[in-house]
Amino acid sequence: MAGKAVPITSLYVHVPFCAQKCDYCAFYSEASSGEVVNRYIDAVIREMELVSGDLSPRTVFFGGGTPSLLNLRQWEKILNAMARLNLVGADEWTVECNPATVSLDKAKLLLERGVNRVSMGVQSLDKELLERLGRIHSRDMAFKSFDILRHAGFDNLNVDLMFAIPGQTLEVWRRTLAEALGFGSEHLSSYEVIYEEDTALYAQLKEGRFSLDEDLACSMYKELVGDATRAGFQQYEIANFARELPANNGLTEKLALPPRACRHNVNYWRGGSFYGLGPSATSYVRGVRTKNWSNTQLYCERLEKGGFPIESREELSPLARAGETAAFGLRMVAGWPFEDFRETTGHDLRKEWSDDMRRLERQGWGRIEPKGFRLTVQGLRFADAAAEMFLR
Ligand SMILES: C[S@@+](CC[C@H](N)C(=O)[O-])C[C@H]1O[C@@H](n2cnc3c(N)ncnc32)[C@H](O)[C@@H]1O
Ligand code: SF4
Repeated sequence: MAGKAVPITSLYVHVPFCAQKCDYCAFYSEASSGEVVNRYIDAVIREMELVSGDLSPRTVFFGGGTPSLLNLRQWEKILNAMARLNLVGADEWTVECNPATVSLDKAKLLLERGVNRVSMGVQSLDKELLERLGRIHSRDMAFKSFDILRHAGFDNLNVDLMFAIPGQTLEVWRRTLAEALGFGSEHLSSYEVIYEEDTALYAQLKEGRFSLDEDLACSMYKELVGDATRAGFQQYEIANFARELPANNGLTEKLALPPRACRHNVNYWRGGSFYGLGPSATSYVRGVRTKNWSNTQLYCERLEKGGFPIESREELSPLARAGETAAFGLRMVAGWPFEDFRETTGHDLRKEWSDDMRRLERQGWGRIEPKGFRLTVQGLRFADAAAEMFLR
């Protein structure tokens, strides 16, 4: 940790517990006893102590796993430690929730202590699909939990949905989308199902229990973009939409973002530094990427012995780093303004990546504009392939 460096302003905390593993999910998490959770809490507080001197968080994100699975006492312990270490008071502080684990007491405690955004994993509002995905919550719980969060006083809520779920018809997706838009949330994230290795859904796909329908997935995505836009959302990333509000601030104006865009995630996509704490979490601090052990016991042991729980460390060359930053930023609808990219990375997109940008333009996937480069609607659909061209 450099002595006089400007502190890092972004903090992620991974909570590696879920009541039950969903069939599609590859995030590191497990079902656990109270004893393991308490041990994790002591360890993550220890990890906070190790890095707090280099942190002045403007955005905080508790993800998982299921952070809302922690009980009131466990949350209090974490929040007290964060207050002691000057890690509270962020402009945007998000906690991810599973609708089955939201309570009014918990919501009130989080809000009182500075959490001001909740992201709820709704995924679907169709009873059969929720079961198909191995979710523990019912559609009623999704509605009820949203009301509880509003009642507690949260005015910045995100809803996560998934589409192209095996067995999901366009009709079912339209209905879920309409109902989810009816929640009136400030933010919507909606991802097409990714078949991650080592998940139950991937195994089912390999066994031939269902097949993929690329055209249907495409129609569902079009429906998502159209319906969300008509409902007053602005798409600012492939899978992310935020409500358009009149209020604005410097950051959002500069990057042409809607004010309720998730600032924490925007920092990732724009190649900013962040500390990631907890098992399996990644940090990216001043060009060095580290990854924590994806094993809660090992993670705790390392911290209990006074060490860092780091499994791997990678220092990219400035050019490789700039290539990754280009690739990530192209997920955003605004693309990369040339000047912002140069300020962030010290490299010029128009020099190093000129051929790649022209190739993407010829393909109809990208657009070179006077002030920047962005992917077209078609390009955003294939953003991973487009982004790969920028890696060095
Ligand atoms: C950590 S989870 C959200 C919080 C909480 N664990 C829950 O599921 O309710 C983050 C989000 O990633 C999305 N996600 C996870 N695995 C996915 C996959 N394989 N394909 C597409 N989306 C996925 C889901 O929408 C999920 O809500
Ligand atoms: S989607 Fe959320 S609840 Fe389901 S296993 Fe993944 S992290 Fe846990």
